[in-house]
Amino acid sequence: MSSRRPTIGILTGGGDCPGLNAVIRAATKTAERLGYDVIGFLRGYEGLVDPVRYMPLDSRVTADILLKGGTILGSSNKGRFTALVGEGERVQIDPALLDRAATTVRQLGVAGLICVGGDGSLAIAQQLHEHGIPVVGVPKTIDNDLGATAFTFGFDSAVAAATDALDRLHTTAASHERVMVLEVMGRHAGWIALHAGIAGGGDVILLPEIPWTFEHVCRKILERESEGKKFTLVVAAEGATLPGAGLIHNHDNGQGEGQVRLGGIGEIVATEIAARIGRDVRTVVLGHLQRGGTPTAFDRMLATEFGAHAVRLVHEGSFGQTVCYRPPDIAAAPISEAIRHLSTVNPAGSAVQAARALGIGFGDAADRGDPFARAARGAAQPAEGAGGIA
Ligand code: F6P
Repeated sequence: MSSRRPTIGILTGGGDCPGLNAVIRAATKTAERLGYDVIGFLRGYEGLVDPVRYMPLDSRVTADILLKGGTILGSSNKGRFTALVGEGERVQIDPALLDRAATTVRQLGVAGLICVGGDGSLAIAQQLHEHGIPVVGVPKTIDNDLGATAFTFGFDSAVAAATDALDRLHTTAASHERVMVLEVMGRHAGWIALHAGIAGGGDVILLPEIPWTFEHVCRKILERESEGKKFTLVVAAEGATLPGAGLIHNHDNGQGEGQVRLGGIGEIVATEIAARIGRDVRTVVLGHLQRGGTPTAFDRMLATEFGAHAVRLVHEGSFGQTVCYRPPDIAAAPISEAIRHLSTVNPAGSAVQAARALGIGFGDAADRGDPFARAARGAAQPAEGAGGIA
């Protein structure tokens, strides 16, 4: 099929997050006004190859999707296209598959393909780009761990959900004088745990970036009790490594170490606290509740700016680039660079400092020290992308 007008294609890859539909809507409306036809490939990169599956997009189709979670195009984080980054090594996608994707793009007259995804999906976009397909990236993930952008959309919505969960746990924990452990997502980075833990009045935050021990966690609980505080809220990122045992996962996706499904740390922490100090402890695993639902206003705004800017990059012929947020501007960076650097929590950054200053524990020896001394020692470290306030 060839269309009368130049066409822009768009797809959403990897785990969904709130704001994907806002990107689709913004890109469609912008492209339409610039004289493009727009099509959306279905189920991520899978829609590019046998069977090729796509749907026409226009401003009527996207009229009521701004506030909808998920993605109207569907997504997939496994299947024939897999390119690991982060914990795993880069995997070269089958060149025959890349050829077939290139043929689809050519046959449909796609002048630019906007790929919305996290680290894995952008790594696939990079391979399409190297294969001669005109690609532009849009970073998304609730984990907020992409180094090229100060914030990804989806993160703020996930933090809001986790904060709401902590608000609810607070009242029941206080009523029953319990320790409550909330396990939140965050594969390589503890941003959700850190931000929700602070916003939701958490007492102990366990992150992948700060080594912790059960001794320090229990000491913080006892210290609180000695101050008359009879309950404790612990927030654990799923990627917080267990002392002496590493990452906790309860399911193997069958795609190698880099893709194991994390989860289970919350229950282990709860069981161990109960065994060590005999307190009544309960666990909540927030899971996909923090990935579904309506995007916050901030995420809608960021996603809308990303969608419009991605079309601008296509229009200018700036392929192999991804949009990114460099406050206060929306900018562009090579996709290759964006997937090379993960953004992780800086243990000496301002958010951790503020938390320590308030007495929030991170399960390490610094829980008892001068909160700002550690920051001074760490001042020589490079600043992290999302360490402060946008
Ligand atoms: O990368 C986003 C993320 O939500 C991670 O925080 C989490 O580990 C993973 O996706 C879960 O993926 P799935 O939806 O396949 O269980």
